[in-house]
Amino acid sequence: MSSTLPQNPYHELAWIAGQPEIGPECWIGAFTLIDGLGGLKIGRGCNVSSGAQILSHSTARRCVTERALNQVDHRPTEIGEFVFVGANAVVLMGCRVGHHSIIGAGAVLAEGMEVPPYSLIVGVPARVVRSIESEIAAWRAEGAELARKAERLASGDKQ
Ligand SMILES: CC(C)(COP(=O)(O)OP(=O)(O)OC[C@H]1O[C@@H](n2cnc3c(N)ncnc32)[C@H](O)[C@@H]1OP(=O)(O)O)[C@@H](O)C(=O)NCCC(=O)NCCS
Repeated sequence: MSSTLPQNPYHELAWIAGQPEIGPECWIGAFTLIDGLGGLKIGRGCNVSSGAQILSHSTARRCVTERALNQVDHRPTEIGEFVFVGANAVVLMGCRVGHHSIIGAGAVLAEGMEVPPYSLIVGVPARVVRSIESEIAAWRAEGAELARKAERLASGDKQ
């Protein structure tokens, strides 16, 4: 048995299985499992924090039937653009997570969960707490204001 993980462009301690479609500008941390075996798309700009697992297959039924049901279940999983996946969160197979969502640390998204865009999702089993669309707009405005201040300071204007 090999003791090394297959190489990937994200982190030497990330395990990328199968051929997931991962968009540009994604960050994927250590001790993650990115399972493309049942089909997986991750949109651009996502962050997958350390310890998180995004799954698209399950051997649960095969295991408990002693392989009387000798097949692995697969369901494609989709993560939209600019989704933040918190540390140790688990996204089970068949989930669809809408763009610009935050998945809290340790959340477990049940198989097939549909999450609307701009959601804050936490807990076990995970639940949508609220829309963060207006918060994101405020954070963007905060970023723009900080950038303006930095520009003014750089140009010698102390106001
Ligand atoms: C979810 C998170 C972003 C906080 O968001 P927030 O807007 O400040 O959340 P709030 O404080 O409004 O919490 C809303 C509810 O979710 C709960 N909650 C927040 N984070 C939670 C978590 N990770 N797991 C379970 N419940 C959580 C709160 O207790 C609160 O519950 P209540 O409504 O019953 O009181 C943050 O807790 C988190 O999990 N961040 C992940 C950080 C991370 O993984 N970093 C890795 C390195 S970058």
